[in-house]
Amino acid sequence: MITFALSKGRLGEECASLLERAGVDVSALKEDTRRLVLESADKRYGFFLVKPADVPVYVEQGVADLGVVGKDTLLEEDRQLYELLDLKIGACRLCIAGYPDRGAQDRKPLLRVATKYVKTAKRVFAERGEEAEIIPLHGSIELAPVTGLSDVIFDVVQTGSTLEANGLAVLEEVFPVSARLVANKVSLKLKSREILPLVENLREALL
Ligand code: PRP
Repeated sequence: MITFALSKGRLGEECASLLERAGVDVSALKEDTRRLVLESADKRYGFFLVKPADVPVYVEQGVADLGVVGKDTLLEEDRQLYELLDLKIGACRLCIAGYPDRGAQDRKPLLRVATKYVKTAKRVFAERGEEAEIIPLHGSIELAPVTGLSDVIFDVVQTGSTLEANGLAVLEEVFPVSARLVANKVSLKLKSREILPLVENLREALL
């Protein structure tokens, strides 16, 4: 059996449909259930349903052989695993966003940046030689500049509708993000006969 760590939510449906196109029986993933451990009817695949940020943990520890996770999470988690394939789903952008009308002249020497990508934000601002105070948050990041908690945010933007609804805009796109297929290093060796054909099927399903 090949085990997957997958997340529900935005990526979930796109991910299930891609796996299906690659020949994986995903009927268990389509069930409306609160169960966190599922398996395909043919018992070839097991699925663990986890929070996006926990996918790399399950794969690094070898609890799951494979995982599907956004590049944003991979960068932030920085785990020891193999990134096998860009699945081109869940496309979004990691951006600096804030009030569009507050230009450079308003910029304080120490920019306050709210984010759930603390390590990545620190790295990005350090690489740019900009001093920034990183304010860690867990969600609703857009609220930070609205309430004065931060000057800007560093966050993923998909449709842009959350920014727009809160009067904010993208100030700068830092890098594009998409979902990746990741593998546990030992699983890739021990189960290569099962995993590599699946990777090939996924690659073809992407064409
Ligand atoms: C993410 C992100 C933004 C929003 C962007 O949050 O942090 O808030 O999605 O998407 P959009 O550009 O399509 O509006 P998520 O929905 O994961 O919830 P969160 O606030 O709990 O982080």
